[in-house]
Order: sequence, then structure tokens, then C-alpha cells
Amino acid sequence: MDLINSLLNLVVPPAGLVMLAFAWPTLSFINACEWLYNTFYSEDMEDKVVIVTGASSEIGEQIAYEYAKRKANIVLVARREYKLRGIGENAMLLGANHVLIMAADVVKEDDCKRFINETMNLYGRVDHLVNTTSLGHTFYLEEAADTSVFPILMDINFWGNVYPTYFALPYLRQHNGRIVVNASVENWLPLPRMSLYSAAKAALINFYETLRFELKDEVGITVATHGWIGSEMTRGKLMLEDGAEMQWKEEREVHAFGGPVEEFAKLIVAGACRGDAYVKFPSWYDIFLLYRVFAPNVLNWTFRMLFVNHGAKRASPIGTGIPLLEGSPPRKLLTGPVTSSPLSSPQKM
Ligand SMILES: NC(=O)c1ccc[n+]([C@@H]2O[C@H](COP(=O)([O-])OP(=O)(O)OC[C@H]3O[C@@H](n4cnc5c(N)ncnc54)[C@H](OP(=O)(O)O)[C@@H]3O)[C@@H](O)[C@H]2O)c1
Repeated sequence: MDLINSLLNLVVPPAGLVMLAFAWPTLSFINACEWLYNTFYSEDMEDKVVIVTGASSEIGEQIAYEYAKRKANIVLVARREYKLRGIGENAMLLGANHVLIMAADVVKEDDCKRFINETMNLYGRVDHLVNTTSLGHTFYLEEAADTSVFPILMDINFWGNVYPTYFALPYLRQHNGRIVVNASVENWLPLPRMSLYSAAKAALINFYETLRFELKDEVGITVATHGWIGSEMTRGKLMLEDGAEMQWKEEREVHAFGGPVEEFAKLIVAGACRGDAYVKFPSWYDIFLLYRVFAPNVLNWTFRMLFVNHGAKRASPIGTGIPLLEGSPPRKLLTGPVTSSPLSSPQKM
């Protein structure tokens, strides 16, 4: 057995490289032609139905506006209904055909069934499902005093994509629909203090890449991987449950950098309507993929210098038992399960 593997070690890598040298230019040419064709014959979203989860802030909100400009019917989903109302009004002003607001928690199966069913009852179809819900964190794993936050992070970042996808799939199939996934560059370029977030994003990518095979071409999948985009998440304004906004001085002072959210939302929606399998922004991160494969130590040293040697570890209060809001006692939500506000009935605009 060892002999066979030794032989394969010698033969497979050079043979693979030769094949790649031939296949890559041909594939790039085919992809470029396909991209050009799809740019001219991009999907017309007028009167089509788009569900956007995590629509109450930043990237989700801007994605909803992009679909509104394309005159789609939009279903806005998040827990903060008061935010969705304003966003729904803006979407109508921007040209949306119709807006439906659904206060729902994507971690709860029943909520997901409900907003998919309401969408079908009202519009009779689902064309695009855009999953944007997420919860970030910035703590070193060892600093977390309370492990109850761990499954919450995985629930929102992973299961919060899987449930809506599962319940929407039968309807997406009916019209060759599309799922848009908001992953992150952290799925292959993990950063310190984001271990659970990065793990959830990596799981998300593997889940949707597998689903891509299972669905063949009947339902398209667009995976958006982004670096840092200026948004609520990057400004340290995160939520575990409705109304319990976690904001803390230290995180607010972390300066968010990155491109404007609007620009990225435009790219995602244009890519989804073109049928792109991937949307990346910004693309300069790609170079680190080579480092990851050929020189991982360079990345390790860089992150060590940037994060660990930069003074003492800086704890984020999530899961550490430190009060989340300045001057407020530790919140109960760190020891109990996530709850959501009473969910209201759908509102049409
Ligand atoms: N911003 C960046 O730099 C960046 C970088 C890489 C990847 N991303 C990815 O891009 C996507 C959007 O990021 P963002 O910066 O716009 O995030 P964000 O501003 O934090 O928004 C997250 C959204 O998820 C919703 N949400 C969270 N938990 C939910 C739940 N249980 N049920 C329903 N809705 C829930 C929130 O609404 P409610 O609180 O009202 O429910 C909010 O609308 C995410 O997938 C994120 O991972 C962002």
C-alpha cells in the first residue's frame, strides 16, 4: 500500500499540473464568454419574488434596495420589525413592485415555514432567496466564560441559512430560482478572535457547494464571499435577540474599514441576476489563497504580529460574563436560549 501511495505521490502532482495547464485557459475562455452572454441577457426581476433574510440592516438592506430598483416583489425578513417597516417604505420608493414584511427568527423552523408559506400565499412563487443573517464575534475562545453563546453563533450563522433554504427549495425549483449566500473570506482565511464565525462560514460554504451538486442546474447558487465591508457588524453593533442590542465601547472604537455596503450589494445582485456562481469583493484577498497553500507560515506570523503581539488580549464581552452594555448588569441572554419577540402577522405595503 505504501508503495502504491509513494508511486502516486510521484505521478499525480505533475500529471495534475499538466492537465491544469491545458484546462485552465480553455475554461477561462468559456467562463468569459458565458459571463459576457449573461451580462447582456441578465435575469429580469420585474414582478419576480425575492426573499431577503437579515434585511433589517446594512448588506441585507442594500440588497433589498437593489432588487427594488429591478421592480421585484420583495419579502423582508428579520427580527426587528420596526427597522423592516422603514426599509420597506424606502424599497417602494425605489421601485419595488410590492413589499411584504415578516418579523421572524431564522433559527426557528416554524418561523421559516411561516414566512415561506406567507410568501407563497401572497405571490404564488419564490424566485430568489437571499440569506444575509449573521452574528459576528470578536473574542478569543479561551476568554469565553460562558459556552452557551457558542451554539447561538452557529445557529444564526449556519442553521439560519439552512432552514430558509430547506423550506424554500421546493418553490425555488418550480421556476429555476436562485439562492444567494453571504459567506465571508474568513471561511478560508480565518482570523484570530473569530473562530466560531469562521467555522460557521466554512460549514456554510461546504453545505452550499454540496447542494450545488444535488440541485444540478435546477436551482442556481451564488456564493458571495466578502472581506470587510463597513456595516453594523464591523462597527461592533451585534444582536443576540430582538431588542437586545449588544454595543460596547471597546468594539465601537474598532475602526471599520472596507468598501461601501451599497457597492457590494450592487455586485451581489448583479452577479445573482447574471447567474454567477461566485461574487467576490474585494478580490485582492485572493493572493492570500496562494500563501495559505504554499506559505502558510507567512500568514501565521503576520496574524501573530497583528493580533497577539499587539499588547494584551482584548476581551469582547460576549460569552465572557462582562456586562454587554456600559453600566448595565450582565444580561440574562448569555445564560439562556435565544428568544425572539412575539412575531407579528405579515404586513403588506
Ligand atoms: N460586514 C462585513 O464586513 C462582512 C464581512 C464578511 C461577511 N459578511 C457577511 O455579510 C452578511 C451581512 O453582513 P452585515 O454586515 O450586513 O450584517 P449585520 O449588519 O450584522 O446584519 C445581520 C442581519 O441578520 C439579522 N439576523 C441576525 N440574527 C437573526 C435571526 N436569528 N433571525 C432573523 N434575522 C437575524 C439581523 O436582523 P435582526 O437583528 O433585526 O434580526 C440583521 O438584519 C452576513 O452573512 C455576514 O456574515 C459581512
